[in-house]
Amino acid sequence: METRIYAVTGAASGIGAATADQLAASGAKVIRCDVRDADVLADLTTPEGRDSLVSGVAAASGGRLDGVVAVAGLALPSDLTVRLNFFGTIATLEGLRPLLAAAEQPRAVAVSSLSAIVAADEGLARACLTMDEDAAATAARALVEAGHGRAVYPSSKLALNRWLRRAALSWAGAGIPLNAVAPGVVDTLTARAAFLDDPRTRALVAAAMPQPLGFPGPVDAVASLLAWTVSAANSFMTGQILYADGGAEATLRP
Ligand SMILES: NC(=O)c1ccc[n+]([C@@H]2O[C@H](COP(=O)([O-])OP(=O)(O)OC[C@H]3O[C@@H](n4cnc5c(N)ncnc54)[C@H](O)[C@@H]3O)[C@@H](O)[C@H]2O)c1
Repeated sequence: METRIYAVTGAASGIGAATADQLAASGAKVIRCDVRDADVLADLTTPEGRDSLVSGVAAASGGRLDGVVAVAGLALPSDLTVRLNFFGTIATLEGLRPLLAAAEQPRAVAVSSLSAIVAADEGLARACLTMDEDAAATAARALVEAGHGRAVYPSSKLALNRWLRRAALSWAGAGIPLNAVAPGVVDTLTARAAFLDDPRTRALVAAAMPQPLGFPGPVDAVASLLAWTVSAANSFMTGQILYADGGAEATLRP
């Protein structure tokens, strides 16, 4: 069997690093992409960075990719979060799609978030889905200025879910399963710095996202699901938002 070749964004830390490690351990060739510490360096909040990603991965892959794992994301109350999580993720998937077309069993997956069903702002999600990046960035800044900066991140992920549900149909027509994995709270350094290390914030988040299987969850559990969605074994599932959240989505939407 031919060695599968994967591109993983956000591969320098957390969920992306764990997924890249698992894929590499399974014998695949992994092209690690990130804004730092990676094979392909690219800032996915900018058009130039997105171009660098595509040219860098094209060169490193030799022209064929078997899977794209789009993990890079930010959770800041900033328009950069919308630029990376929504527009940067779509640019990753669409930019690398021609390389997937050269594979026999191509797959793609993006990382969403449980928070999309908890705390999103409908207006910002809609602004993203107009596909006007500057207008969406302006809408994100307006939310921050109005004191609702915490809604920017979930909104970027809600918009991503909706985009993906629609896009998956055209991708399926081209024979490429396209899915999302939506983690609950998992134990990465970024999650620790953002809220896990502060007992008060940790308790607030744990109450808003009840995870009967454990809070926070293990990074490797999310990574192994991501790895499976881009494996050849996933030949029949597409357009799905897979909640890897210890039971939070089932609790919140019984
Ligand atoms: N940790 C959690 O609890 C959790 C929960 C739900 C969803 N997620 C999502 O999982 C993904 C990974 O999160 P994580 O917790 O592993 O965080 P992380 O900060 O460890 O990883 C994010 C990676 O993205 C990279 N990145 C940041 N800005 C970038 C840019 N402009 N261009 C390219 N790469 C950039 C970072 O360098 C980093 O390596 C994110 O999309 C996040 O929204 C995380």
